[in-house]
Amino acid sequence: MISLKTSYLGLELENPLIASSSGLTNSVEKVLELEKAGIGAVVLKSLFEEQINMNAGNAMDQSQDYPEAYDYVKNYVRSENLESYLKLVRECSEQTSIPVIASINCYSGGEWVDFAKRIEEAGADALELNVFIMNASLKDDSSFDDKHYEIVRKVKKVVSIPVSVKISYYFNNIVKVVDRLKGEGAEGVVLFNRFYQPDINIDKLELTASDIFSVPSDLHNTLRWVAITSGQTDHIDISASTGVHDWDSVIKLILAGAQTVQVCSALYKNGNGIVSQMTTALEEWMNQKGFNTLKDFRGKLNYSNSEDPAFYERVQFMKYYSSHK
Ligand SMILES: Cc1cc2nc3c(=O)[nH]c(=O)nc-3n(C[C@H](O)[C@H](O)[C@H](O)COP(=O)(O)O)c2cc1C
Repeated sequence: MISLKTSYLGLELENPLIASSSGLTNSVEKVLELEKAGIGAVVLKSLFEEQINMNAGNAMDQSQDYPEAYDYVKNYVRSENLESYLKLVRECSEQTSIPVIASINCYSGGEWVDFAKRIEEAGADALELNVFIMNASLKDDSSFDDKHYEIVRKVKKVVSIPVSVKISYYFNNIVKVVDRLKGEGAEGVVLFNRFYQPDINIDKLELTASDIFSVPSDLHNTLRWVAITSGQTDHIDISASTGVHDWDSVIKLILAGAQTVQVCSALYKNGNGIVSQMTTALEEWMNQKGFNTLKDFRGKLNYSNSEDPAFYERVQFMKYYSSHK
């Protein structure tokens, strides 16, 4: 008898598919639809740190270089109130039987942190911290990694629910960062956050945003780092995110060591029906291969068998390009 059950952040999921944080998880109705479609868990849309701070009456730093950003946040905050987020968490946890993970998009361990306790009290099973920091200026200092650790340390002081950290891949050494996040108390990491992708309009000579959705080829970066990280870090769950558009990607990421697999663009593009397509195909594949549980093949193809993953990568690089005439 094949079972797709998995645990993530200490929570029991019927299957490894999680609906990522997005507009698809911003109402109890949508979350109930996802549950009906067979999703294993949901990450609710994110609250922004700025929203929490401004609602709490803390002034946002207006001295920053981008007054238009300040105006945007102020208007956004007015339209979204914190009580409605807590209501969303409460209703989802009361009305569904799947794990409900709340989400906060943050960049510091500032005043907002206390609000995490209220999210816990509203019934969230776990909290995902979408840490959105980009060092992109000569003025930025070198404490990029430390900011992540500080956020986790402070949040873990106020909540007892499990915490996962959704990070970008802009680190010097992702494996060390994940290991340190675990040391600070994180139960999981989400590899990776997808930042907005810039483009340039050459007629108007202006910067624009490119497609909000990922494409299937985005999978490979996720796959690489899930495989490298899971091979070297224990006792921290990895949720793979970005570029998952089909069922074979789900299998690849579990083979690479993911505990769960998050989907977002694929849900937007195909609708909720893709959930059962993915789980059915996963079951069929497991049946063919003689696997009864995800544990039977999770991490089978991670990089732990290689003594030096960096060297392995380098050899692959040499083979890849030198064999292509
Ligand atoms: C319309 C839209 C809204 C999103 N909103 C959030 C959000 O509120 N919080 C968050 O952590 N990620 C957000 N994301 C990012 C997704 O959760 C996910 O990390 C990203 O789309 C990559 O996954 P995918 O390749 O499956 O799309 C959003 C993505 C989209 C397309």
